Amino acid sequence: MIRAARAASRAEARSSLTAHFARTVNPAPTQPVDPLRATAGDSFRAELFAGQTALVTGGGTGLGLEISRGLAQLGARVICASRSTEHHAALLEEARARAWQVESRELDVREPTAVERLARELDERGGIDILVNNAAGNFVCPAERLSSRAWRAVLGIVLDGTFYCSRYFGLGMIARGRGQILNVVATYAWTGMPGVVHSASAKAGVLAMTRTLAVEWARHGLRVNAIAPGPFHSEGAANNLWPQDGMRERIEEQIPLGRFGQAREMATHSLYLLSPGSNYINGECLVVDGGLSLGRNMWREGQRRGAAAEETNP
Ligand SMILES: NC(=O)c1ccc[n+]([C@@H]2O[C@H](COP(=O)([O-])OP(=O)(O)OC[C@H]3O[C@@H](n4cnc5c(N)ncnc54)[C@H](OP(=O)(O)O)[C@@H]3O)[C@@H](O)[C@H]2O)c1
Repeated sequence: MIRAARAASRAEARSSLTAHFARTVNPAPTQPVDPLRATAGDSFRAELFAGQTALVTGGGTGLGLEISRGLAQLGARVICASRSTEHHAALLEEARARAWQVESRELDVREPTAVERLARELDERGGIDILVNNAAGNFVCPAERLSSRAWRAVLGIVLDGTFYCSRYFGLGMIARGRGQILNVVATYAWTGMPGVVHSASAKAGVLAMTRTLAVEWARHGLRVNAIAPGPFHSEGAANNLWPQDGMRERIEEQIPLGRFGQAREMATHSLYLLSPGSNYINGECLVVDGGLSLGRNMWREGQRRGAAAEETNP
């Protein structure tokens, strides 16, 4: 089984780039695509994920919703899993209208028995090919005021939840000799960020988990990667991370590209890591933050100085 999967993977690697990316197989569009309005369908060929089943935790809201939409648009059967199925309603409605294959499941990733039960059930139906560990919880609190309960709550969703899902869904992938896991982390996993020591610590753990499992499970035909968004607008992030007036603008000022990311962009970058086009990338973390984690204040100041020098010495 594993030998067959490896042969399939080698065959995939031999297939040309045109098999993965849209523009090269589809006729050139008459109008250039507005990058800020581009969807996954503008970047990848239709049906790229046909025949595959993807489970997206927290796939009904924010960035997870866009990843679910992108996968469904490109032909995957998507299982959207989180605590509240009400959060899946918009995705289900769109799926009905666009004939996408989407299923909604209630799941608390902090509960290992619930994760195992769902994994076993799905394995009996052929299992999943793609797992996106996107579920998270976050809020700003100075470390010295963070209660042990609040610490556990975030660690429970992000670190424990990612492990339980990887562990139990990974088992089926190992048995089938193929699979992809994508973990959504955050750039502060390595830069750190005041006010979110709980989330930063959990995401750093997930990054270590990504690299460990990438090596440990490569021999079973699995790839495990991570994606690290900088600031993206989502209702969850806006309510919890930049709730006060003017905060968003102050953050935006620090971003070299001068704007927050869009959830659709995050989805497109994620789908690249899940597509055969990134077949040789394993244990990597793709940073999607408009350059923020490089920029910081010092570089911004450097840019200001450069602009000032140009004005005085054109
Ligand atoms: N937005 C940003 O700027 C940003 C930056 C860096 C990293 N990220 C990361 O991107 C991911 C998505 O964030 P977002 O901004 O889109 O936030 P969001 O909309 O609040 O998404 C969080 C999702 O996690 C689910 N969830 C929470 N606890 C869960 C649990 N115990 N079990 C199962 N699902 C659970 C929620 O659904 P239920 O409530 O239905 O359970 C929700 O759909 C997260 O991993 C976040 O850390 C976001």
